[in-house]
Amino acid sequence: MSTNTAPVFPPASSMEILFSKEQIAQRVAEIGAQISAEYAGQDSGQPIVLIGVLKGAAIFLADLARAITISNTFDFVAVSSYGRARVSSGAVKLIKDIDNPIEGKHVIIVEDILDTGLTLSYLRGLMLQHKPASLKIATCLDKPERRLVPIEADYIAFSIPNRFVIGYGMDYAEVYRNVADIRIYPETPAGH
Ligand code: IMP
Repeated sequence: MSTNTAPVFPPASSMEILFSKEQIAQRVAEIGAQISAEYAGQDSGQPIVLIGVLKGAAIFLADLARAITISNTFDFVAVSSYGRARVSSGAVKLIKDIDNPIEGKHVIIVEDILDTGLTLSYLRGLMLQHKPASLKIATCLDKPERRLVPIEADYIAFSIPNRFVIGYGMDYAEVYRNVADIRIYPETPAGH
């Protein structure tokens, strides 16, 4: 028997597609149009601020920012939960804060997946301390079954059942973020 314990990463092409890149592009365009319409009145020349949660939301944010036709800027935060296996105590730690002040600005936090809700409820509390003019949440995926704390997103590309997915920025052990479609990972990693 082999003693090599290096992780095996099956090819993404072997995994079932949950949402194709075309379906994703369609939803991102729709959300971009919705945000552009909703903020058009209150924009008054002031860009809205998109705050992406690294690293998973980077690709969704890049697409969403371009689908939004009103002026916007972006910033990023990074958080860690203590260990990959999340505990219900919900300890989330800020690794990287925003670079620019958001006081008085219209802010949208952009996330890849709203899962237990621990990350976004922590980040929402933190961002509210900066006194933005408004604060909303956009997420590419929502897994409502997994929620441990009550929080909802304002903009959701797709709501999905409790399956572990990769692609379009989302990873398994840092791999597969570059996969263009969202695909179902064949196993459910520990902690999910
Ligand atoms: P939570 O809402 O605090 O549980 O955290 C959501 C985060 O967990 C997401 O931003 C992802 O980084 C990660 N996550 C949850 N579900 C998945 C999945 O199916 N694939 C990849 N990452 C996931």
